[in-house]
Amino acid sequence: MNQNKKTVPIIMERKNSSKKIVALTAYDYSFSRLLDLTDLDIILVGDSLSMVSLGYNSTLPVTMEEMIIHTCAVSRGCHNPLLVADMPFMSYQISNELAISNAGRFIQEAGAQAVKIEGGSRMAERIEAVTHADIPVMGHIGLTPQSINRIGGYRVQGKHYKDARQIKKDALILQEAGVFSIVLEGIYGDLAAEITQAVKVPTIGIGAGVQCDGQILVLHDLLGLGMNSTPKFVKQYTNLGDQTQKAVNTYIEEVRGEVFPDEDHSYKRNSQKLRSVSDSHQE
Ligand code: KIV
Repeated sequence: MNQNKKTVPIIMERKNSSKKIVALTAYDYSFSRLLDLTDLDIILVGDSLSMVSLGYNSTLPVTMEEMIIHTCAVSRGCHNPLLVADMPFMSYQISNELAISNAGRFIQEAGAQAVKIEGGSRMAERIEAVTHADIPVMGHIGLTPQSINRIGGYRVQGKHYKDARQIKKDALILQEAGVFSIVLEGIYGDLAAEITQAVKVPTIGIGAGVQCDGQILVLHDLLGLGMNSTPKFVKQYTNLGDQTQKAVNTYIEEVRGEVFPDEDHSYKRNSQKLRSVSDSHQE
């Protein structure tokens, strides 16, 4: 095995270190290769694929087959970070058997090292079943986008005392169920800090403040490639969206103005060969 490959135990050990876990999503080979050249800890093939790359308006439509294709592509470029695949909607809710068999596909067919499952106490039984099959599970609580129809919108969770207590309880139940880490999405920083203190596994925040053991973002949001409105918690580190449009507009102008392709970007015959071709034509 590659000595630099991050593993589940390596990520778990970070709980007791001061080095934060840094994670990003990826959905294809080219971005996976680029992320692999950095010191990133985890690549998640998120079900955000549904919105980011497939153009749906929620994470609900993406299928197991689509997730497998994209996880395979990411896996081909991901040699160093831990590779986690997101279990899509309806791939685990129905039964423990279905959850184990779909999680197993991500490991066996797609080369993932772990899966992520959304949901708190109501998913504990599934998570336990999958971890008992030797498949590491990353939990995900707080704002869980697959529950959008129940929660009614992408908004901060745990605003009321009772809901905040339930999210903390969920974290402890997931820990009991055997998760190796927990994504905390869309909750107040003080609640995330309290949960991070309370659990022995690392917490990875997205819109959950600075006191988690690590952070995750959707790659396209960070790069300014997001199509939808950017949530408050996203920091855009660059704007590849603008840069892409500028580059493409310049290309269009140059093709139409016959500026491109110029000599530097065209194949030239050397004159010797040209002569021999024209000689042979005359023959
Ligand atoms: O699907 C996703 O991208 C996610 C995170 C960003 C946590 O679940």
